[in-house]
Amino acid sequence: MECRVKTLDSILEKMKRKNLELRIDNVYKLQDIAGIRVICNYVDDIYYLRKLLISSNGFALIRESDYIKHPKPNGYRSLHLIVSVPFVISEGRMELPVEIQLRTIAMDMWASLEHELRYKSGRVFSEAEAAELLQCSVDLAAVDQKMQALFQGIHQESERTST
Ligand code: GTP
Ligand code: MG
Repeated sequence: MECRVKTLDSILEKMKRKNLELRIDNVYKLQDIAGIRVICNYVDDIYYLRKLLISSNGFALIRESDYIKHPKPNGYRSLHLIVSVPFVISEGRMELPVEIQLRTIAMDMWASLEHELRYKSGRVFSEAEAAELLQCSVDLAAVDQKMQALFQGIHQESERTST
């Protein structure tokens, strides 16, 4: 699990990009000031965690983007939940949106390397590079499915032998 809070620079940059006037009450319109990334072993774990989160008291689901069922055109896969989390501060109680990204190890590998390649090269990918990246995502999705099936097979087998 990784947590991060957006830096002030990054908040200001995003507010400009979204054409939001630089006022404190507009900061709350950004739904990803606080972010949590949870890296799971298997795809099923992601939807199990989603179910637990949504059924727990106190967390209200504001928005959901399922980039696993519907990957981004570049191949990005993860489940994004924006949840409203209650906080107690000296001024009283308040709710703040938190972006929770749920992904498998394979999805995280792709996203980390894609981000690094994009960031380090500082340019847009060529058509061939973009196609190669997309293919990597498709390949990793196939591996995720195979590992999930392997896990289920082994799990069921050990349950049979222990009864
Ligand atoms: P933003 O205004 O950019 O925050 O858009 P959004 O709130 O609609 O969020 P979106 O779901 O597009 O992406 C939010 C976060 O997901 C990003 O800050 C990244 O951490 C991650 N993400 C989304 N798309 C990509 C991608 O193509 N590559 C990588 N590496 N990460 C991505
Ligand atoms: Mg965002």
